Amino acid sequence: MKVLVIGSGGREHAIIDKLSESSLVDKIYAAPGNDGMAKQAELVAISDTDVEALVKFALEKNIDLTVVGPEVSLAAGVVDAFKAKGLKIFGPDKKAARIESSKEYAKELMKKYHIPTADFQSFSSYEEAWNYVQEKGAPIVIKYDGLAAGKGVVVAMSLKEAQKALKDMLVDDKYGKDKVVIEEYLEGPEFSFLCFVDGKNVYPLELSQDHKRAFDDDEGPNTGGMGAYSPLPFITKEDREEALEKIMKPTAAALVDDDSSFTGVLYGGLMKTKDGIKVIEFNCRFGDPETEVVLPRLESDLFVAFNKVIDHEDPELVWDNQVYLGVVLASEGYPGSYEKMHAINGLEKVTGKVYAMGVKIVDGQTYNNGGRVLIIVEKADTVAKAREKALDDIKKIESDNLFYRSDIGHWAL
Ligand code: AMP
Ligand code: GLY
Repeated sequence: MKVLVIGSGGREHAIIDKLSESSLVDKIYAAPGNDGMAKQAELVAISDTDVEALVKFALEKNIDLTVVGPEVSLAAGVVDAFKAKGLKIFGPDKKAARIESSKEYAKELMKKYHIPTADFQSFSSYEEAWNYVQEKGAPIVIKYDGLAAGKGVVVAMSLKEAQKALKDMLVDDKYGKDKVVIEEYLEGPEFSFLCFVDGKNVYPLELSQDHKRAFDDDEGPNTGGMGAYSPLPFITKEDREEALEKIMKPTAAALVDDDSSFTGVLYGGLMKTKDGIKVIEFNCRFGDPETEVVLPRLESDLFVAFNKVIDHEDPELVWDNQVYLGVVLASEGYPGSYEKMHAINGLEKVTGKVYAMGVKIVDGQTYNNGGRVLIIVEKADTVAKAREKALDDIKKIESDNLFYRSDIGHWAL
């Protein structure tokens, strides 16, 4: 079987790594991929939003299954275009992908179907938004309505911060011309619940937790994610059951009822608050870096599972119970501007898994080529041991331009 994976980051590398373990898979292509995954997949120079070129490639190569990583490809309608040509693809169509691409749509859906989430209101006028914020007071959360690469959310601890965010989003159009959603501030540990979904059927993957802030102790700016681990000792069986029965299953059913039936990975970004589990956000795809710690735990065949979900059959999902923990190496300056093409050495000494998030290899030499560069994933019996192993691995890696968090997993310790 021939598989095409769309995307270029660590998430896609982890998907490729797991697919390459399947005895049914002969050949994997990555479009566009990155040099660090070239041992397992042939890189194809097509952008992840060039829908027409992706369809053409899949037809030419007789691709048996395509798996979509990034939300931008889904929002660009890649699934709709593949299905129109009779090509098998794992991911939601453009309409169902609105659960991530429009925060307002997601919030309205949750309200209509009584799915627990923070109270909210949306605005396109700066004056009205600012009046509402002053009435509600701080802390308060301001979210840009469209896609903003995880950067369009401001948790404002003061009215001044809230005002600046509103000005950025509604007056200066920093991310574009969409509305803002203003939300009640919630508190508690966050976790990621990724589920395979086919219409009303929900097949949960194992729980994981991301670390969004750039620096230790959850300080610094929000990033795409600086590390993750799975499983989560602070989420009980009952919590997980509540999240599945009151959030993930009702949301899948709500999407069907709303004529936006979802196939693919529905990602619940959830918070355990004092009033129960609530939704912070939904994504319509695998998380990054959550995928890099969840998929290595999968002992059953991922290629078979993808096909089963698409064919409306129950997938078999068998998990390793050890703790998998990943630490991201990012370029100095990320999530702001950063330099590329600094040499990275010593990767061959690492004992854990190395997933390439943004690397370039020239004449056998590895360089950084993105904000997030590599993720090192180790496994052990406990979170503490897995973290220690990952940090030991990182000490073997030489580069003058990378930073990482040394406290991944702190919620569990
Ligand atoms: P999002 O992109 O919606 O996941 O938001 C990014 C981060 O902002 C989340 O991971 C939370 O840490 C924080 N956040 C978002 N919404 C809220 C909220 N209503 N209350 C508290 N924190 C929030
Ligand atoms: N790790 C956060 C995300 O994938 O959106």
